Order: sequence, then structure tokens, then C-alpha cells
Amino acid sequence: MSDFIVIPEKKTGPDKQFPLFGELVHHEHEQIVFCSRPEVGLKAIIAIHSTTLGPALGGVRMWNYKSEKEAITDVLRLSRGMTYKAAISGLNLGGGKAVIIGDPHTDKTEPMFRAFGRFIDGLAGRYLTAEDVGMTEREMEWIYSETKYVTGIPKAMGGSGDPSPVTAYGVYMGMKAAAQKAWGSDSLEGKRIGIQGAGSVATYLARHLRNENVKLYVTDIFDQKARTLARETGAEVVGPDEIYTLNLDILSPCALGGVVNDDTIGHLSCDIIAGGANNILDDEKKHGNMLRNRGILFAPDYVINAGGIINIASEMEGYNEKLAMEKASRIYDTTLRIFEFADEHDIPTIEASNRLAEERINAIGKVSNIYSSKSHFSYRKGEMYMRNRS
Ligand SMILES: NC(=O)c1ccc[n+]([C@@H]2O[C@H](COP(=O)([O-])OP(=O)(O)OC[C@H]3O[C@@H](n4cnc5c(N)ncnc54)[C@H](O)[C@@H]3O)[C@@H](O)[C@H]2O)c1
Repeated sequence: MSDFIVIPEKKTGPDKQFPLFGELVHHEHEQIVFCSRPEVGLKAIIAIHSTTLGPALGGVRMWNYKSEKEAITDVLRLSRGMTYKAAISGLNLGGGKAVIIGDPHTDKTEPMFRAFGRFIDGLAGRYLTAEDVGMTEREMEWIYSETKYVTGIPKAMGGSGDPSPVTAYGVYMGMKAAAQKAWGSDSLEGKRIGIQGAGSVATYLARHLRNENVKLYVTDIFDQKARTLARETGAEVVGPDEIYTLNLDILSPCALGGVVNDDTIGHLSCDIIAGGANNILDDEKKHGNMLRNRGILFAPDYVINAGGIINIASEMEGYNEKLAMEKASRIYDTTLRIFEFADEHDIPTIEASNRLAEERINAIGKVSNIYSSKSHFSYRKGEMYMRNRS
């Protein structure tokens, strides 16, 4: 008999006997935590995709999921995305996400969120939460009253506040890098730029663009929002569907994900797509390839909208807005590096970005498994956060 332990090979296909574990292996997740407290109506799932680079950070989303499967699929997909976003941004953070199953308009109660806070606390810093879709400052404060592992808290409470200005600045930097790549100059003067959505990120982005004298178009499903932004920035308002058919230099989706899809891609007439929305490509592989074949340069969304997570990461070191902006400006160089890598390997930009993120995770993973006594006392991986807040 051998003295060595034989490690079974990693199974990557569907696992009929253990489908949930099969999902974890397939997406390479570390852990899923199901949180149940029927007395207070809490049904939540926390997914930790990776902690190779640091504690898994990602927001909590409250949504009226139609089924358990839908909620699990969402939390697995979103937490994986956070790992890539943190990794490509050079942050010492892993990827995680949480979902609370319920109607955000009718089901919220203080005990529900405080119970959820206690489950997060039990993970002792492996997962750091933040505000996401369906959540407001009020519920984040309830969670915060039970655990310190909450990020993106209001400035008045010592946190980093609204991340939108930093996100928008990063998107602007990524857009300029794309201009540099596409046209040999990063000046946007005179370019025709269409912004989809007139929300927080779009508003800050439009202000940067106005200062460069671009020809701006803006749309929103709420016409009034588009008009307000247009009035401030001199933009022209267009209809929600019209934005896909306009003759533009840059299309900047800042509303929803999945807007580059089978229905829209054929209508797009632009050189660059660079926006703040997450998951702009409906199908990363298929539409990444299609854009490339059509000669449309795609600035990967999770790279250029990483200002938000960069902002939060700064909070852990003692928040400094100037420093956060300075770090977000590095998105320019990161984006250029991705374009270069895509050219070198003859692949779509989204694939280039994924590969570079994976390279960093694998390389740092080989370093962090060397025991160092310092790592327990270095105030990183959540301890930094505890020190500042306790
Ligand atoms: N806020 C951040 O710091 C941040 C960070 C990273 C990513 N993002 C992503 O950026 C996007 C915008 O975020 P935000 O904070 O500005 O949100 P927001 O809610 O302030 O703005 C979104 C706007 O899009 C509009 N909209 C929705 N569907 C639309 C459609 N089909 N056509 C036109 N307009 C539509 C909404 O009416 C709203 O005005 C989201 O996808 C978000 O996930 C935001």
C-alpha cells in the first residue's frame, strides 16, 4: 500500500449524484452558505467564489427570485465576477456575493437584516458585504449593527459613501484608453458618444465628457431623467431603442447588463463600447467574438467599472477619496494592457481580461501558500478593517 495520499482528480462535468457540489466545482467556488431564519422571513445565500487574494467581497442583492435554482445561479455567477474584477484591478480581495430571496418592496424587516448580519459575522471576515440591487442604506445599517464586515458604508459613519463618482471616473479612463487604442489619441473632443441610462454613474461620466467637448446623446426609460441630465450637460435626448441604431463613435451602456445581444448587435454602429454596466455582453464568448469580427473594440465592463470596488478597498485602509481616484486612474493602463494582450494572443478583449485576471490569481496563490507569521497580524484580509472600526 502506498504511503502517499492520493488526491482525486477534479471533476468538472455535471455531477448527477451531487448537483450542487457539481455546480461549485464547475464554477470553482469555495463555499456556499445557506442562511435560514423562518421566524424573521430570512432566506439568504452567500457564495464565496475565491479567497486566494483576500476576503471575498461583493454586495448583497435582494430580489424576488422565482426559484431556488434561479437564486443559486445568480449568486454563483455574480460572486465569480467579483473575483475577476478584484483580481484584474490589482486588489487584495477575493470574490463573493449574497442574495436575499424576497420582495424588496414588501418583505423587508429589521429582524430579517439583523439575522443576516449575524450569519455574515459567523464567517469571521471570509465574506465582506456591501450594498447592491434592492438594498438601501437603511438595511445596510441594520446589517452593520450585527457585524463589522460591511463595506461601502456612508461617509458620516467613517466609510467611503457613494461609489458612483469613482466608478464613473474609472469608466472615463477606460474609455480614453479605448480611444487611444482605436484612434491613436485619447482625446474625445468632437466624438459622438451615446450613454444608455441617466442614473448615478451616467451623470458623473457625462460631466467628464462635457469637459472634453464631445457630442453627447443620452437615453433613459424615464424620459425626465434623461432630460435633466441633458439640460446639465448639453446632451441630446434619444429614445431607449434609438441608442442602438445611432451612428456613434462610442456607445456607453450605463444602465443594465446583457444589452449587447443577438437582437442588438447587428444594429450597432460604433467603434468602441465602453460603459459602466455589469455584464454588457449577453453571452461573453459569443458576443465578444462577434464584436471583434465586426471591428468594434470592447473595453471589458468589469475592468473599467471597477472604480466602485477600488473605492471600497480604500475604505479598508482608512478612506481617502483622492487616493481612490488616483487608483481608479490606473484603469487606463490596465485597459491598454488588456488590448495589447488580446492582440498578442489574437483573442477577444473580454477573454484577454479573464486570462490576465486568472494569471494573477494563480501567481499570487503560489505566494500566499508560503507560511508567514506576518500574515496573521498584518491587518489585511479583514483585520485591517476591524482595526479601523473597533
Ligand atoms: N454605482 C456604481 O458605483 C456602480 C459600480 C459598478 C457597476 N455599476 C453598474 O452600472 C450601472 C448603472 O449603475 P447606477 O448606479 O448608475 O444605477 P442607477 O440606478 O442610478 O441608474 C441606472 C439608470 O438606467 C435606467 N435604465 C434602466 N433600464 C434602461 C433601459 N433599458 N434603457 C435606458 N435606461 C435604462 C434607469 O432608469 C436608471 O436611471 C448598473 O448596471 C450597475 O450595476 C454601478
